[in-house]
This record gives sequence, C-alpha cells and structure tokens, in this order.
Amino acid sequence: MDKYQRFSNLLLQSRHAVALTGAGISVESGIPDFRGKNGLWTKYDPYDYGHIDSFRANPAKVWKMLEAMGALVEGVNPNEAHFALGELEKLGIIKTVITQNVDSLHQRGGSSNVVEFHGSFRRMHCDNCQKVFFREDISLVNLPPLCSCGGPIRPDIILFGEGIPPEAYTRAFDAAEKCDLMVVIGTSASVAPASRLPLIAKSRGAHVLEINPVASELSDGVTELHIMESAVAALRNIMKIVRSMHTGDTD
Ligand code: APR
Repeated sequence: MDKYQRFSNLLLQSRHAVALTGAGISVESGIPDFRGKNGLWTKYDPYDYGHIDSFRANPAKVWKMLEAMGALVEGVNPNEAHFALGELEKLGIIKTVITQNVDSLHQRGGSSNVVEFHGSFRRMHCDNCQKVFFREDISLVNLPPLCSCGGPIRPDIILFGEGIPPEAYTRAFDAAEKCDLMVVIGTSASVAPASRLPLIAKSRGAHVLEINPVASELSDGVTELHIMESAVAALRNIMKIVRSMHTGDTD
C-alpha cells in the first residue's frame, strides 16, 4: 500500500487526531521558514535579535527583526494545506491544531480549535504595563513603538528565553496526551518545548506522521510515516483519498 493510502487510512481510523505545524506549512503562502535558505534566522541571529534579554536591552534593535517578521506575515493568505486542516476539522478528524506559527493562517484556513503555542503577531502589548494593542493600532514610524506609560510595545509572540503562555501550554500538552494520531507538518522540531509534543504523543501510543520535504529531528525514530513532499502537494493527495473514503464513495 502506498504512503498516501496508509496515511489517509490512519487519519480515517483515528479517534482523536491532532496536528502540530511549523513555518513550513506557511511557506506556500509566501512566508519563508526560519532556518531555510531565505529564513529569517539567516538574516538575523536569533539569539541576538530574537531573545527577550536583547529586546529589553535594546528594543529598537530587536524591532528591526520584528518589523521584518511582521512584514512577512502581512498581506498573505492561507494556502491549500491550511484549508485541508480546516476541512479535516469539519469532518471531525482533526480535533486541534497546535501551531508554532504566529501568522493566524490556520484560523483563516477554517480551523477553529487552534493553539498558538508561540503567540500571535495579531495582538501586541506594552512590555512595561502590559496594556493590550492590536497591530493595526500601532504605528511603526518610530521604533520601538511606545506606550503612553513610556514602555516599549511588542507583538504577543514568544521570544527566546520566554515561557509558553500557560493556557496554550496546557491545551497543547493535553492534546498531545489525549490524541491517538499526531500529524506533524512543516517543522524542523528543533525548538522545545514544542518539539516535545510528538514525543509525548508517541509515548502514549499515538501514531506520529510527518509531512516535510526533508528530514526533521523527528524523522529518525519518532515519525512512523514520513511523506517527503510539500504541505500543499501532500495534503492535496491525502484529501482526495479522505474525501472519497470518508463519504463512502468508491471510484
Ligand atoms: N511544506 C512542508 N514543510 C516545509 C515546506 C513546505 N512547503 N518548506 C519547508 N518546510 C519545512 C522545512 O524542511 C523545515 O523542516 O519546514 C520546516 C521549517 O523549519 P524551521 O524553519 O525551523 O521552522 P519551525 O520548525 O517552525 O521553527 C520552530 O523556532 O525560531 C523559532 O519560534 C520560532 O516557531 C519557530 C520555531
């Protein structure tokens, strides 16, 4: 049986499937991933520009990277892979999408139960008084944007050196413990604690499947079925099979 049929059968036979996604699922929406050839971390050293200590020492400097990141996630649209996960949720197959991405494309792709494990660029807050802002209310003419209290405003994304938002952490680990199938799409799985989620799922007896054109840190030893294709190509094929089998139609 070919990989697509096996992958689709496991999805259809699952009782509680969840998805874990990374930057790779948004590459076909035009957002480069972090560690690929045009990745943000090839332009900005993540520990010099992506760490909370760097932000507090020199917010104007870190905002140069944040502005570049913000520009990447503006004016983009969900792709066929995001829509496929939205359809799998509607079919009752995918119960939760845990994403490391901050681009809000899963919600726009029809997924409603989304855990934003690394936060979101959609919202901002003052690093000093925690006042909340929306992206569209902030001018980036002067960096860093300042709150009326004088503190620097920052996006609600998790920087290196920061903890995962407690509610997102709990929802994600609950999903990993409860699932009987985890589909990992477009992540190098190089950043903890997100990279621990597939290990938790596997330790509870779940199937761990992967979609990524290249090997990730999960591919050797954690993933039991790896489709080495792009997210759009892989999910296009999977959805053809799932739609035919799910409604009981046979060709
Ligand atoms: N389809 C599927 N996967 C793809 C595609 C594609 N079209 N293009 C690239 N990929 C894969 C790459 O092979 C790589 O394994 O997506 C993965 C992206 O890996 P990273 O760039 O490391 O991004 P990610 O895993 O999301 O990073 C995790 O690190 O910097 C932090 O907070 C940041 O959330 C991010 C976290």
